[in-house]
Amino acid sequence: MENILKDLNTFLSDLNVFYRKLQNYHWNIKGKDFFVIHAKLEEYYDEINEQVDEVAEHILALGGEPLGTLREYLNETKIIEAENKKVDSCLVINEIIKDYSTLLQDAISIKKLAETEGEYKTSALMDTIIEDYTKKIWMLKQSMEK
Ligand SMILES: [Fe+2]
Repeated sequence: MENILKDLNTFLSDLNVFYRKLQNYHWNIKGKDFFVIHAKLEEYYDEINEQVDEVAEHILALGGEPLGTLREYLNETKIIEAENKKVDSCLVINEIIKDYSTLLQDAISIKKLAETEGEYKTSALMDTIIEDYTKKIWMLKQSMEK
């Protein structure tokens, strides 16, 4: 169980930093796709924010302690923050495809570990997340096709 809780806290850290990154892009997006991408990024960070709460409360339900400070999240995360400067949609989409792929790998490895330890609530929680990120990665890649 300790390993699962540790990995869930790393995942929670990645989600929190990704939330900040998505909103940073929402503020700094420029160019002809502004209206579409600006709105899409808000939809994405709202969903990530819900997952932050879901994962943190799942950690509590398992008897663990969710990390709760930005300092801890930055120490734990694999997500690289966005710079505070104007960005175009091409850079944003490529960057968030990478980040969703990182989060997808997190979720898959947590599911595998949970299955080996018979922790089926965690495994089931990861199913919806894996499905969500897989679909998002596909859609984001489609949007970059010529
Ligand atoms: Fe806004």
